[in-house]
Amino acid sequence: MGKNIVLIGFMGTGKSAVGVKLAERLNLEFIDMDREIEKVTGLLITQIFRRYGEVRFRSEEKLMVQKLGKRNGLVVATGGGAILDKDNIKALQENGVLICLESTPEEILERVNRKKGTRPLLKKNTTIEDIKEMLQQREKYYSCADFKVNTVGKQLEQIVGEIIDNIGY
Ligand code: S3P
Repeated sequence: MGKNIVLIGFMGTGKSAVGVKLAERLNLEFIDMDREIEKVTGLLITQIFRRYGEVRFRSEEKLMVQKLGKRNGLVVATGGGAILDKDNIKALQENGVLICLESTPEEILERVNRKKGTRPLLKKNTTIEDIKEMLQQREKYYSCADFKVNTVGKQLEQIVGEIIDNIGY
C-alpha cells in the first residue's frame, strides 16, 4: 500500500471536503485528524481549547500525527496548525506526500464565517486583516508541502483532479 496523502493548509481552505472526495476517487480510507481527536478524547475541539487550552490540543494533535504517520494508504486532512511543529512535519513526511491547499484571505474568511464558533483560534468577528496576518505568520510552515494547489474558484472535482495528476496515481 502506498504513502499517505496528507492535506495541509490554512483553516477554511477545504482540506476536509477535498479529502473526502479524493479518498472516494482513489478508494482509500479518509481520516480527518480533528474529528479523530474528538473521537479519542470524547470532546469537541472547541471544548478541548476552552477547558484545557491550546497546549493540550497541540499535544493531542501530536499524538494523532505520530499514530497516523505509522499507517499507510490513507488520505488525511490535518488541522491548519498541525505543521507548526517540526516533529509533526517529519512524521507526516516520513510516510506521506504533503499537499498544501491554498486560497485567498477573502475566500478563507467567507468559509470560516459559514462555520462560526467552531475555530477557537479565530475571534467572533475575525477580519480580513486578522486572516492576512495569520496567513503571513504561517506561510513559512506551509512551504514544507511537496506541492501546492490553488483552490480559488475551483470546483471540488477539479481540485481533486489536479491532486491526482500531481501525485501520479
Ligand atoms: C487550527 C485549525 C483547525 C483545528 C484547530 C486549530 C489551526 O482545523 O485543528 O482549531 O491552528 O489552524 P481546520 O484547519 O480544519 O480549521
